[in-house]
Amino acid sequence: MAAADNPINANNATNSPYGSGAPYYNESTGFITRHPAKTRTSNWVKIGVPVLILVIIGAVVGGVLGSRASKSSTSSTNSSNSPGSSNGEAAASSAASIKNAVGRFATATESKYDPFQPKTPSVLNVRPDRPRLIAPAYKWAALPNLIKSDPYLKGWNETIFANATDYFAKSPVAYFWDHDSGMLDNAREVKMRLKAFAYVYRMTNDTRWVDRAWQEIKNAAGNGTTPFGPDEDKWNSGHFLDAAELSSAFGIAYDWLYDLWTDDQKSQIRTTLIKYGLQHGLTAFTDHNVGWWTNSGTTGNWNCVCNGGLTVASLAILDDDTTGIARQLLGLTIDNAKQNCAQATVDDGSWAETANYWYFGTTGHAEMASALISATGSDYGLLDVNANFFKTGLYHMYVFGPTSLFDYGDHGPNKFSTTANSLLLYAAEYNQPQFSLFQREQHDAAEPWSMFWYDPSVSGAFWDGTPLDMFFNNDLDQWVSMRSSWTDTNALYVAAKAGKNQGHQTHNDLDAGDFVLDALGTRWTGELGSGDYNSPYYFSNDTQGSARWTYYRKMTQGQNTILINEANQNVLAAPKVTGQSSGTKQGSSTVLDIPDNSTAYWVADISSAYFDASVVKRGVRLLNKRRQVLVQDEITSTASVQWRMHTNATITIDGTTATLALDGETMKVSMLNPPSGAQFSQMQAQRLNPDPAPPVPDQDNPGVSVLVISLPAGQYTLEVLFNPQWSGMSDSDFVTPDSVPLDNWSLTSHK
Ligand SMILES: *[C@@H]1O[C@H](CO)[C@@H](O)[C@H](O)[C@H]1NC(C)=O
Ligand SMILES: *[C@@H]1O[C@H](CO)[C@@H](O)[C@H](O)[C@H]1NC(C)=O
Ligand SMILES: *[C@@H]1O[C@H](CO)[C@@H](O)[C@H](O)[C@H]1NC(C)=O
Ligand SMILES: *[C@@H]1O[C@H](CO)[C@@H](O)[C@H](O)[C@H]1NC(C)=O
Ligand SMILES: *[C@@H]1O[C@H](CO)[C@@H](O)[C@H](O)[C@H]1NC(C)=O
Ligand SMILES: *[C@@H]1O[C@H](CO)[C@@H](O)[C@H](O)[C@H]1NC(C)=O
Ligand SMILES: *[C@@H]1O[C@H](CO)[C@@H](O)[C@H](O)[C@H]1NC(C)=O
Ligand SMILES: *[C@@H]1O[C@H](CO)[C@@H](O)[C@H](O)[C@H]1NC(C)=O
Ligand SMILES: *[C@@H]1O[C@H](CO)[C@@H](O)[C@H](O)[C@H]1NC(C)=O
Repeated sequence: MAAADNPINANNATNSPYGSGAPYYNESTGFITRHPAKTRTSNWVKIGVPVLILVIIGAVVGGVLGSRASKSSTSSTNSSNSPGSSNGEAAASSAASIKNAVGRFATATESKYDPFQPKTPSVLNVRPDRPRLIAPAYKWAALPNLIKSDPYLKGWNETIFANATDYFAKSPVAYFWDHDSGMLDNAREVKMRLKAFAYVYRMTNDTRWVDRAWQEIKNAAGNGTTPFGPDEDKWNSGHFLDAAELSSAFGIAYDWLYDLWTDDQKSQIRTTLIKYGLQHGLTAFTDHNVGWWTNSGTTGNWNCVCNGGLTVASLAILDDDTTGIARQLLGLTIDNAKQNCAQATVDDGSWAETANYWYFGTTGHAEMASALISATGSDYGLLDVNANFFKTGLYHMYVFGPTSLFDYGDHGPNKFSTTANSLLLYAAEYNQPQFSLFQREQHDAAEPWSMFWYDPSVSGAFWDGTPLDMFFNNDLDQWVSMRSSWTDTNALYVAAKAGKNQGHQTHNDLDAGDFVLDALGTRWTGELGSGDYNSPYYFSNDTQGSARWTYYRKMTQGQNTILINEANQNVLAAPKVTGQSSGTKQGSSTVLDIPDNSTAYWVADISSAYFDASVVKRGVRLLNKRRQVLVQDEITSTASVQWRMHTNATITIDGTTATLALDGETMKVSMLNPPSGAQFSQMQAQRLNPDPAPPVPDQDNPGVSVLVISLPAGQYTLEVLFNPQWSGMSDSDFVTPDSVPLDNWSLTSHK
């Protein structure tokens, strides 16, 4: 595909309206960005007021994306309406919101220029004052006024207080070994709580929060009233994520409450941190069997989370640590993270593992970068060593559909203390305001990091000028994202992938050709997600014979793609993709009037993924002003063929038509020009054959059905048309496209 066809170019750094160049310091907010935001002021003048009002009505009051979960009961054919604007409450309070709008542009002058500006930063030369991690004192001092003038900060502050109050009333996190991922959930919960307690203390000066934090620390050190882990290895160093997250938690609490701890408490925190966290971390760097995650090529969340936790903790205790271990670790973690963690995005920004693991990886990466910058004045290249890392913000925005993620592959454990708020840091550091404008609308935005990573002087709307489609063409994932709106929770969204079946840190599925589809506020074609992480050989490897590929959720049968001979895809598949978009961008309004010729298509030649078929090609395209979807497959196979799609919907089949019902909405799926004998059938979401037998039985997939087309060996073109039953749209408003071979698809091939 020609570079010009790829809308990613519309958003890259060199074309950025914000320009590029030397670090930029914003006097009023204390934010330093690496590229000057030279047009920021004029932007305000140019688009400020009209956009502002829309943003306020749509986002703050109605919740542009805030009502994701509670979908609107009305949906319309042209509905790119802000969910908020169809809501009486929103209309009623819009006047108040507009008044409030002036306050959206923080004018606080209280934040002082950071006095700590070392000329030649060194990781061993930390700032003299506390806190040194993420939020230095001058940022805390500025915060109350920023909160007063920014509705996002105000809301997040309130949520953090409310969450902290909930945790306060609970007993300290009890040790629980969950078999799947050791005690990672415990570790992350301790971290989440300590961040909240320390935050609220600093905002109130009420020492009850310090006492409560100490209770949590003592308990996680094994000095509470109930045991916490085995004697010698309480933080489960064998699954080092656990130890790393607790190290990070202890480091933050040590630093943010530094002046409140007695010398004795500080000494106890350090002793515990070193014994159960840092000492094992150092061993990981010298013994590569123990510390496999330090090995070159570990381009995934493990390297980010482990190096991040060790770095945060080491910076916290650096000059108090008489053992020298913090100093030693800081000599190791940064280079290691630059070589591995920072390479976990490929050149189009896609995260090398999965869309869900992106959360863990970028949280670790962002915490590490932010801690290094605040404590020592530099990130030592962690943010820039991979020149394409910043695009991972776009990856996240595009992989996030109106209902949920395009959640291919494994999903990972619960997201305690792990959010998408790395986007707020990346927005400021990479000068990509749309990341921040996007993330501030999300449910997970309220946490202490956001209070310091979010630059409240950012202006505009994330959807303004943002292309509806994006192609991510790196060989590793080769995926596409296409939608009808950025702001309508009922929007149509289709995402599909080809890519390699190896090279994802063993978190992927055998899923070239896989897709998901959202419309009418629900997911019609969806993923089964992770298998049981504790099942034997689940993570053994990604070779053809791996037992991982015997689990239904990981095998090709369990994906929304073509199945040949009821067999798994070839792990060595190297698909080829092409595609084009009309380049339609949303404007400043939350209501988008889609032009007649607005479309996008993507074609993947996934033949190399199959052993018994010479040709398997899949095309996905939007039709009829992005209201319908065509999935077309061209197959030449010497063995049986199945078209498979997993859905939570109730399926009613009538030959070549299937009617799907879900969440009170309807989707009609029909085969155009069906090959002789082709018709839909329905199957349970379970393996077709006892062989290859998984080491333990598959998990159930309750509520999930498979819509199937089964055919014998042969040459076929399958054209499956998805017509979401938008309210107000009559049968005659739907189009029936001409049959066009995939090689002949173009932007205009289907009128
Ligand atoms: C959108 O729908 C509304 C009501 O259904 C209708 O009045 C309006 O003309 C439609 N707008 C477009 C652009 O189709
Ligand atoms: C933060 O939220 C708490 C709880 O709602 C509130 O008491 C406090 O005043 C807020 N802080 C600021 C600076 O507004
Ligand atoms: C924090 O509070 C918000 C708002 O009440 C709630 O939705 C969220 O689940 C809470 N988060 C946690 C981790 O308790
Ligand atoms: C807490 O104490 C600090 C230092 O004395 C002071 O600057 C700050 O204003 C106090 N904050 C509150 C909410 O009382
Ligand atoms: C926990 O107890 C051990 C053993 O007495 C002590 O070495 C350590 O410093 C204590 N740590 C904390 C945080 O209480
Ligand atoms: C079914 O719904 C659940 C819950 O929303 C979702 O996680 C899952 O991906 C859906 N499954 C399919 C096949 O759509
Ligand atoms: C891959 O894992 C399987 C078990 O799932 C094992 O039998 C095989 O030897 C492993 N192959 C390699 C190359 O490690
Ligand atoms: C769509 O139509 C508009 C107006 O006629 C035209 O300017 C534009 O180039 C067309 N876009 C495509 C992708 O054909
Ligand atoms: C496909 O395109 C080729 C080359 O433009 C053309 O000769 C052929 O007729 C087209 N086939 C169909 C079925 O549209």
